[in-house]
Parts: sequence; structure tokens; C-alpha cells
Amino acid sequence: MKTYREQYEEYLGFFREALKNECAEMNFRPPVLAESMKYSLLSGGKRVRPVLFFASLEHFGMNYRGETAFPVALECIHTYSLIHDDLPAMDNDDFRRGNPSNHKVFGEAGAILAGDGLLSYASGILLKEAGRSRRHLRAAQFLMEAAGAAGMVAGQSADLIYSGKDAGEEELRFIYEHKTGRLIEAPVRMATILAGGDEEAASAFGRELGLLFQMTDDILDEKGESGKLGKTAGKDRMEGKLTCVKVFGLDGAELLADRTAAKCLSALDAMGGDPFLKELVKSVRERDN
Ligand code: IPE
Ligand code: IPE
Ligand code: MG
Ligand code: MG
Ligand code: MG
Repeated sequence: MKTYREQYEEYLGFFREALKNECAEMNFRPPVLAESMKYSLLSGGKRVRPVLFFASLEHFGMNYRGETAFPVALECIHTYSLIHDDLPAMDNDDFRRGNPSNHKVFGEAGAILAGDGLLSYASGILLKEAGRSRRHLRAAQFLMEAAGAAGMVAGQSADLIYSGKDAGEEELRFIYEHKTGRLIEAPVRMATILAGGDEEAASAFGRELGLLFQMTDDILDEKGESGKLGKTAGKDRMEGKLTCVKVFGLDGAELLADRTAAKCLSALDAMGGDPFLKELVKSVRERDN
């Protein structure tokens, strides 16, 4: 019986290999474009979304090794969102995944284009996958919707609009559900679509986990260490971001995260329970990076 860590490492190793193979195909010209895309894509990261996808497939008894395209596309989309999120016009962050942000290395225009390249590359992967079966088509549609103007992009837009403003719980929830929630829900839902499982139960779990994930991101921004985070701590307060720490205070935010983790575990039970996913929820609550 593998431990949680060993299982995570196994998913991670498999995903890294798949990503490396995909990157070998990215020989675009001018070469600096491909270089900038790969710089952020290969610079580490927890890969929690691909891991969630693989673990959800295994939850339904499917062989996760047969489905590499979706998690690669998802990580391309997530990485593009981070590159753009760090731009001076957005969060103005100089560090990401322990390295200088994309625009610090390739300039602002280069970073915008790296993001554009990754998003359209992901769309290409999804279009190919969509042809495999009716379920693959539905999973691809789900991801594109979650990434777009009704999903992550909407959340990023609200995040910027409410920065420095006197907004509250309702606006915070909108930001959480969209900027982070939708791309955390996506891998769980997509795996469930492929497996023919209960999609509503999967989404309920994924959405709750998304809320928890952004709460702990906000808490870590307040009390974490830049070195461990691989990004600059204390930025949210500096920029007046609407976070759970701003709305509820640090202690209130910790309490809320505990309550959300408990809700997440109940939603997981409703999905049929899963020892690995249960540990993953706990590790998201307790994480330090
Ligand atoms: C950071 O996501 C942005 C949020 C949605 C909170 P991750 O914490 O998953 O970042 P990486 O991929 O591990 O770098
Ligand atoms: C970003 O949220 C969510 C994205 C869609 C990229 P944050 O702005 O809080 O993410 P970090 O803290 O920069 O990783
Ligand atoms: Mg942001
Ligand atoms: Mg940011
Ligand atoms: Mg943050």
C-alpha cells in the first residue's frame, strides 16, 4: 500500500514525463516564443490539477496512464493564467515558482504572447481529444468553459475590479469560485465525465476544494514565507486585494478554511470517499507552499 506522498510522487513523475514529451513538440519560431512558453510550463509548480485528474480517474477504477492530453492542456491553461496574473498590469509579481516571473525574463510583450501561445496550444490539444469520444468532447467543452469568460477569466476580472475597494463576502465568493474554483473543479469533473460517474457530486467536491485552495493561498500570502512559496508573500495586503484575510481577519480566515475543509470532506464522502483525495484535502488545508 503506497503512502499519500508516494502516490502523489507517482502521479507527478508520470505527468512530468508527459509534459516533457509535449514540450518536445513545441518548436515554434521565433525560438524565443517556444522558450518563453516552456520557461513557465517547466518551472515546477505543485501540479495539483493534473494530480486531481489522475486521482479522480483512479477513484473510478480507470487507468490514469491512458489520459495524458487533458492534464497537459489544463496545466498549459493554468500556467498561462499565472503568467498573465504576474504582469505589471495585473498583480505585478516578480517571482513565480521560485524563479523570476515570465515578464522579468522575456519582457511584458513576450509574457503576454507566451500566455497567448499556451492558451491556444491547449485549445489545439482539446480539439484533438474531443474527437476521441462523446465523453472526451464533453470533458473538453467543460475545461474551455471553466477557463474562459464565464470561469477563471471572470474571476480575474472581478479580482482586479475589487482590489482596493470596499467589497465584502459576496464579491469575495465570486472571485474564489471563478478565478480558482473553476480550474480546480475541472479536473475532477472531467475525469468523472470520462468515467461516466456522478458529475454533480464531483463538481460539488471540486468547487469546495477550489474555495479551500484559494483561502489557503490568501492565508499563505499573509503569513507564509516567500522562499517556501516561490512567490512574493505579503503582496495581497500591499495591493489591497479582496481576500479572506481582508474580510475576516487572519484568525477568521483560518476558521473559515477549517470549516471549508470539513465541507470538502463531506462532499468527498458523497462522491463515494477516497483515501488519497481525503489526504489531498488535508494537505491543501495544511500546506506551506
Ligand atoms: C496559484 O496556483 C494560483 C492560484 C489559483 C491560487 P498554484 O498554487 O496551483 O500554483 P503552482 O501551479 O503550484 O505554481
Ligand atoms: C490567481 O490568484 C488566480 C489565477 C487565476 C492565476 P492569485 O493572484 O492569488 O495567485 P498568486 O498568489 O499570484 O499565485
Ligand atoms: Mg491575482
Ligand atoms: Mg497573483
Ligand atoms: Mg495569491
